[in-house]
Amino acid sequence: PRKVILDVDTGSDDAVAIITALLSPEEFDVLGICTVNGNREVRLTTDNTLRVLDLLGMPQIPVFKGCEFPMVSTLKPGRKPNIPWREGMMTGIEALVHGDHLEIPETDLKEQDTCAVSWLVDTLLHTKEKITLIPVGPLTNIAMAMRVDARICENIEEIMIMGGGFITNNSSAVSEYNIWVDPEAMEVVLQSGCKITLVPLDATHEAYLTVKDAEVLRSYGTKTADAVAAIIEKRSRGYANDVDMKEYAAAPIHDALAVCALIDPTVLVDVEHVNCHVDIAAGYADGQTCLDRRMRTTKDGPNCYFAMHADREKFKDMILAIMKKATR
Ligand code: BDR
Ligand code: CA
Repeated sequence: PRKVILDVDTGSDDAVAIITALLSPEEFDVLGICTVNGNREVRLTTDNTLRVLDLLGMPQIPVFKGCEFPMVSTLKPGRKPNIPWREGMMTGIEALVHGDHLEIPETDLKEQDTCAVSWLVDTLLHTKEKITLIPVGPLTNIAMAMRVDARICENIEEIMIMGGGFITNNSSAVSEYNIWVDPEAMEVVLQSGCKITLVPLDATHEAYLTVKDAEVLRSYGTKTADAVAAIIEKRSRGYANDVDMKEYAAAPIHDALAVCALIDPTVLVDVEHVNCHVDIAAGYADGQTCLDRRMRTTKDGPNCYFAMHADREKFKDMILAIMKKATR
């Protein structure tokens, strides 16, 4: 199995991503999970993450609490994500989707003493085997670690990021939430020289799961599959009026697609090798993942893979098969 570190802002789709990774021990050796400010304050994303581990019966997976604030964006005039949480920035639909408190029972599990950034630097500097990173929240922890010691990049196998959008966006006309929260962090990561794949909204919105899929999960009779079913059902209500989702009674489970893409890369379709930079100007396009697909103006060549589409059938089959492995 490949050695991986998850970086999450749990978050209901993050929960499904964590469960997917931990129920795939042949593919992943999960060294630890870092948490970050994003869907909620880091205190809550950490607690939500620990609840998921408790649900799975995997208290041995270490959790490291990460950054409370984005690297720079909170300092920009008029730009105060998450103080308090996404103040005044949410539409009704977003509030419903992102505002949910995870309905997974409380836990006594605690995070480690070390903070996520220190642990990332230490682990990545001293590992014998290269490590794959799976960030599915704002990129703050990863970028901070790269800034503390850029040598960590030599030991990063690849970075599979849920984030960005080309046609489809959700936090402004042109930006996706994980990048919008901390645009500078994503730009640091894009300039790192690491192998990077973006699983953007264009892909995740095609890989939706439906309430019918949730029914199948409910038939498995485990608490874990029930929790994933509840997440799909709840998110489907949140997306009921979304322009591309309303026909289906369905919702994207964004973060889980990034995990599945490491198990079977063909779940991503039309993956383009492009040049991508993030708009960090704090204007209308703040947080946009700007793609130069034709390389007409960009001199520095492609720096990431960007998935334009996804295979919903394959994703659904993977999720249903993986959740069947849960024993509790
Ligand atoms: C991303 O934003 C978060 O709210 C989700 O967990 C996902 O990682 C989708 O834009
Ligand atoms: Ca997330």
